[in-house]
Amino acid sequence: MLNQINQIEETDIHCEINALEVPLAHLPSGDTCVLYVGDNLHLMKKIADEFVGKVDLCYIDPPYNTGSKFIYEDQRVSQKDNIWGTHLGWMEFMRPRLETVNSLLAETGIIAISIDDYEQPYLRVLMDQIFGQENFISCIATCRSNNGKSARGNVATNHEYIVVYGKSKKSKIRGFLENDDASYDKTDTHGKYRIDGLFRKKGDASLRTDRPNMYFPLYFDRNGNVFTERLSDDLKEVFPVDSKGVERRWLWGKDKAREESWKLYASAKGVVYVKNYFDMSKRVKPKSLWIDNRYLTERATNEIKEIYGDKIFETPKPISLIEDLIESHTHEQALILDFFAGTGTTAHAAHNLNKRDKGKRKVILMEQDQTIKTDHLAFKHGFRKISDITKARLEWIANRESGFTFQVKNIQ
Ligand SMILES: C[S@@+](CC[C@H](N)C(=O)[O-])C[C@H]1O[C@@H](n2cnc3c(N)ncnc32)[C@H](O)[C@@H]1O
Repeated sequence: MLNQINQIEETDIHCEINALEVPLAHLPSGDTCVLYVGDNLHLMKKIADEFVGKVDLCYIDPPYNTGSKFIYEDQRVSQKDNIWGTHLGWMEFMRPRLETVNSLLAETGIIAISIDDYEQPYLRVLMDQIFGQENFISCIATCRSNNGKSARGNVATNHEYIVVYGKSKKSKIRGFLENDDASYDKTDTHGKYRIDGLFRKKGDASLRTDRPNMYFPLYFDRNGNVFTERLSDDLKEVFPVDSKGVERRWLWGKDKAREESWKLYASAKGVVYVKNYFDMSKRVKPKSLWIDNRYLTERATNEIKEIYGDKIFETPKPISLIEDLIESHTHEQALILDFFAGTGTTAHAAHNLNKRDKGKRKVILMEQDQTIKTDHLAFKHGFRKISDITKARLEWIANRESGFTFQVKNIQ
């Protein structure tokens, strides 16, 4: 199987790797975007000298190979008589692009790819081979419509995926800011908290013999307050001994336990916990199932109508989905690349985030200058090339928002 996939040739583009015309250091400071116009494989190779190892987050939303008549080509089929069946054409298209972007990613970089059921398994095979199975992070399922579209075998599919890989083991997503305090069911003078973490150490190096000075008595009252000294005869004593009678140890030494005893809570049976306080600056792991009305495709369609006055692009992503992806997957100074830019949602989302958290994310977009057919709605609205649509959205943002700048680059 691997031999077969190795045979996928890079057939469509041949270009030399040249130095970038706009070096990273010379990108305008602050909230900015550069739109490169042309074929993305060619462009990525052209900018490679400057950007190799620099991209923190690559988000792409490639053609899904639906066979639909979109503004861009969305049909890449091949003969069935190979191991990949009709998917080979799409894989041949994607493979050199994924290989090239892999070299542009920072060691801690992340790549996130929108895809639907049709090519998702084949994308995963490509990604496993190019990025390594060990660097797979998640396959997020996103709900894109409430009702679902085209029923196959009587199932109305209403989800798609975002496939996420890291460049290396050092790639870590930072998670969402915790903004929901509903699960914090207790309150004290220090704020809202919940009880979900044992103060007795578990697992490795958890025995009394591992850290003898972390084995000491604690005292607790009927309200769950914990003390390091027996302040009154009413207090009950507890040692870090587990349910099987094994002597273990506490998480902290006695000095820290004394100073921070207000963070400890004891149940009536004397099980000691560390209070988990609600903290809006704390980040929590994203879940792999994303359902939110803000992520629905109809939202994206409305956004497109607002910007262009009509539904001139068939497959936009909702801004909120990309905002949440960027916010949870990389830091505020990130260099972000989207080489299947479409209407430029990624730049719009990064700008909104910069505005909200005073970040300095920079975005590189790439979009082809393919001619728009005369019978397409976008043509009727005066657009002649797909990249003109991307550019128009960037202009739309720049005209409304202070601090957003962009450049358009045509590189031969
Ligand atoms: C699914 S759309 C992306 C939509 C985008 N996420 C948005 O929110 O508008 C894919 C885009 O990739 C572009 N594209 C396809 N092949 C390309 C290539 N070889 N080089 C550059 N852009 C390409 C298409 O023109 C199309 O605009």
